[in-house]
Amino acid sequence: LSIGILFGGRSSEHEASLASAASVLKHLKQDKFDLVPIGITQTGQWMTQTTPYELQQQMAVTTQIIDADMQESTQHTIVVDTPAPSSPLMQHPLSSVAPKVDVIFPLLHGTYGEDGKLQGLLEMIGIPYVGCGVLGGAISMDKEKTKQILRAAGLPVVDYKSYRRAELERNPEKVLDDIEKNFDYPCFVKPSNGGSSIGVSKVRSREELRQAAYLAANYDHKILIEKAIECREVECAILGNEDLQASVVGEVIIRDECDFYDYHAKYVEPSTKIIPALISDDLALEIQEQSIKAFRALDLTSLARFDFFLEKDTHNIYINEVNTLPSFTEDCMYPKLCEASGLAYPDLLERLIELAVE
Ligand code: DAL
Ligand code: MG
Repeated sequence: LSIGILFGGRSSEHEASLASAASVLKHLKQDKFDLVPIGITQTGQWMTQTTPYELQQQMAVTTQIIDADMQESTQHTIVVDTPAPSSPLMQHPLSSVAPKVDVIFPLLHGTYGEDGKLQGLLEMIGIPYVGCGVLGGAISMDKEKTKQILRAAGLPVVDYKSYRRAELERNPEKVLDDIEKNFDYPCFVKPSNGGSSIGVSKVRSREELRQAAYLAANYDHKILIEKAIECREVECAILGNEDLQASVVGEVIIRDECDFYDYHAKYVEPSTKIIPALISDDLALEIQEQSIKAFRALDLTSLARFDFFLEKDTHNIYINEVNTLPSFTEDCMYPKLCEASGLAYPDLLERLIELAVE
């Protein structure tokens, strides 16, 4: 089976995608699969004959989160039979590789990868792919729509309100007044569509709120304000199409110097994970059940990672968000949760490909 590994992409999570893809390229079993790496630059050019490491080297601004030693390990796994080296594909992005690809494994996080748009393209040209479909991806990418659906399904989410970028531009003071009327400080300001905490701020004053609102509005046409609660962060991985498996629950320990689980705490100096989380069996079961319920409510298939807040005082849980293509290096939470539940990383990759074609 020939597997097209898509990485990079136009979203703000480009670099996280490169790290995920480098790991998958290293661990997908080469005796079973032919790997066709397909990189997408930050400006949206599709390239063959490139590696995640090479694409990272081309980035203008970068924290370079893939180690140089990944370069070798990803290079020798690559089997490519495509046009001239690193040549941009001139026509429809997949036209020169699609006939040679049986399944696409999109390791693209965020917009144009995780949000249904790519899935629509793949449906149109009839190539099976790993991950959920158009509707589930589109809803799950939008934090406002996700919360609306989860609430309608009776699942707990923290209080939130959304505002459009246009309202903010037209009358910023009115928007800020309304936020202050509805939320106490501190509160969170987020782009409604986004990931990896890019564009997310925790604010404590009107001035911080103003800056954060404009920052978030740079990333999306809608911003979301959320009540901040004193909480622990726990996560659960779901795998399957119809028969769903919920993993053990894991916890992310956020260092004291971090204000919240931000980009730095996610990728630059990754936070410690405790798997399984030190919580009661009843609470773990509730988190697993809610994850499965949410997976169905959001019309998902294949995989998703549900991130919960566990309120410190009350032990109430809230679904913070869902990632339909969670960060995917072998050390990331989704693969680690699956591993702790009995599915090693290479087997998880294989299982995801089976789910794509079943
Ligand atoms: N959105 C990133 C990839 C994650 O939450 O894992
Ligand atoms: Mg998260």
